[in-house]
Amino acid sequence: MRIVAAVSLAFVATTAQAALAPLPAMPPVPADSPMSAAKVALGKQLFFDPRLSLDGTVSCASCHDVVKGGGNDGRATAIGVAGKTGSRNAPTVWNAAFLNTQFWDGRAASLEEQAKGPMINPVEMAMPSHNAVIQRLKKIPGYSRQFAAVFGDRDPLTLDNVVRAIAAYERTLLTPDSPVDRFLKGDKQALTAQAQRGMKLFQDLRCVSCHSSPTYAGYITIPGALFYPWNLQRFPFFKGSIYDAKYELTKDLGRYEVTKQEKDKHMYRIPSLRNVDLTGPYMHNGKVPNLEEAVRVMAKTQLNKELRDEEAKAIVAFLKGLTGRLPKQDKPRLPADRQ
Ligand code: HEC
Ligand code: HEC
Repeated sequence: MRIVAAVSLAFVATTAQAALAPLPAMPPVPADSPMSAAKVALGKQLFFDPRLSLDGTVSCASCHDVVKGGGNDGRATAIGVAGKTGSRNAPTVWNAAFLNTQFWDGRAASLEEQAKGPMINPVEMAMPSHNAVIQRLKKIPGYSRQFAAVFGDRDPLTLDNVVRAIAAYERTLLTPDSPVDRFLKGDKQALTAQAQRGMKLFQDLRCVSCHSSPTYAGYITIPGALFYPWNLQRFPFFKGSIYDAKYELTKDLGRYEVTKQEKDKHMYRIPSLRNVDLTGPYMHNGKVPNLEEAVRVMAKTQLNKELRDEEAKAIVAFLKGLTGRLPKQDKPRLPADRQ
């Protein structure tokens, strides 16, 4: 028993020390898709192009607003083609490039794999097939030219290259220099005394055991490695609090919806907390209206703790310090239908 306790304590100590770190300058880049300015520019156009959707009205940017928003849509659940709604909240795309797994249930292992989903999701972009997307893009001369310039092969306009370009653009959506990052790099003025108390509570209460940094989403991606099951956690971990009914926390079955395995019921990927002040409403279903309430829900459902007002507010002050510098994004000029 003693030995086990010592070992797990040592583990906790190491993870706690490694737990808070500034955002690295660059996310991992897949070996088969190096970054280039032309690829990023192409990916940006595709990200903003509503022609990737059935009726030409919905682009990735419709639900992931990086021009004036937090990289999400500010709604509880997203609205796709013809006003259809799904059951999940749109997470931010800012810093998604650092995450090991994508989606609330971690069902995609990379940005490339993720980007294939929305185009053919009936409540998002609703295209009948990926082939239909490719055929449509092939009719746009400006895209044919750019795909040839970026990918060069005999048949450059393929689904794999479409998602490579989109993912390359997403790898530029990084928000460095948050007050917390500056604090961790030694600028002790970067956080108020209240936010510093919040940071300590975040560590002492063990929020950090799940939301470890630099992403605050568990462990950072190691290039080449694909999937980390310990990035998934049960939510609510402590069932039966008032929040289960109030925010319908157990309606969605989480990762079970994908795997149909009992052990995956209510398992979710730990979400990043970077820019979390900008990405409300909260949780997979967007039912929790504000950040202070989200913090209380977490303390109760994940740690079985009721927070005092002062504690909840201090943690919120700390989380607000995770808002980074959002690089300015302009809508790109899109290639014309015909030339
Ligand atoms: C109709 C709204 C909508 C559109 C259009 C849309 N998304 Fe999303 N996006 C969502 C929702 C909702 C989720 C979460 C779904 C889930 O987890 O089941 C999501 C998840 C993501 C994630 C995962 C982020 C994370 O933290 O797990 C990324 C990255 C992303 N979308 C990028 C894109 C790209 C690229 C496109 C265009 C090809 C796109 N989205 C189109 C709503 C949308
Ligand atoms: C046992 C793991 C675990 C612990 C401990 C934990 N969280 Fe979470 N946190 C999660 C998971 C999983 C989710 C996603 C919930 C969902 O799917 O709706 C989440 C979601 C959140 C969200 C909402 C993010 C969003 O974009 O909607 C916030 C804010 C948050 N956690 C803060 C905290 C704070 C503050 C603490 C400590 C009081 C904490 N968490 C403790 C696992 C954990």
